[in-house]
Amino acid sequence: MSDTTPARIITVAAAKGGVGKTTLAYELAAALSGVLVDLDWDAGGATRMWGHDPTRAARVPLLDALERGPEGRPPRPKRRANQPALVPAHPDLSASRIDADLVGDCLRAWAAAFEDPYLVVDTHPGANPLTDGAIQGADLVVVPVVLGAREMDALEAIVADYRDYRLLLVPTMVPAVPPRRFVERLAGLAEAGRITVAPPVSEHRWIRRRLRRAALVTQPNPGVRVRAAAAEFRAVADTVEVACG
Ligand SMILES: Nc1ncnc2c1ncn2[C@@H]1O[C@H](COP(=O)(O)OP(=O)(O)OP(=O)(O)O)[C@@H](O)[C@H]1O
Ligand SMILES: [Mg+2]
Repeated sequence: MSDTTPARIITVAAAKGGVGKTTLAYELAAALSGVLVDLDWDAGGATRMWGHDPTRAARVPLLDALERGPEGRPPRPKRRANQPALVPAHPDLSASRIDADLVGDCLRAWAAAFEDPYLVVDTHPGANPLTDGAIQGADLVVVPVVLGAREMDALEAIVADYRDYRLLLVPTMVPAVPPRRFVERLAGLAEAGRITVAPPVSEHRWIRRRLRRAALVTQPNPGVRVRAAAAEFRAVADTVEVACG
């Protein structure tokens, strides 16, 4: 165990899929020099983005560590230049019968054991024990928000469900002309002390076609458009730091 302050736990969660959770978690982990804990068992998540194929590994370090429990040895993050440190996911996580309390307790214990200042957790969309545990353990729950009518309705339900947690709402994939009524509706949800709205991340169509594994925020020699996107993710990371105190 280190004797420094425990890492802050930042859980990125949303009720819906495809809203930019993984992209945001990856960039935040890199920008905050944190460890990315991938609790999403779906292929195509942060673990693949990082360049790791968990099905080729003999063990499932994340499951092993969860089974050892909060008193046991934490998983060892994988480290590579220009990418966030990673505790990879595995398809077997979907069938695991690990309960939410255990997940929250393990994350807390790992946060105390790691030297890194942040533990950023990427989650599977919707309610499930791993996501619920990651929310229970979190110092801050980060929710990417797409500014559309249905998405805003879903967000209001989340805000009610997560009322016991500190929330950071991050407008994502925001078009060049942001839809004003949704921006106002989002601002209306902000509550002093408990709910903060981060600066927006724009719609960057090229992000969908990216194959590079370097995080945008740590990419060496970035071009103009990468630099612009990286600045937006860094601004969100700054808001996370402030929100965590
Ligand atoms: N700011 C952005 N602008 C444009 N496209 C984006 C942006 N952020 C993410 N995307 C793209 O949107 C798609 C979904 O993003 P991502 O995988 O991060 O979402 P997710 O919420 O983690 O999805 P899932 O629920 O499937 O895990 C990806 O193709 C990604 O490249
Ligand atoms: Mg994802």
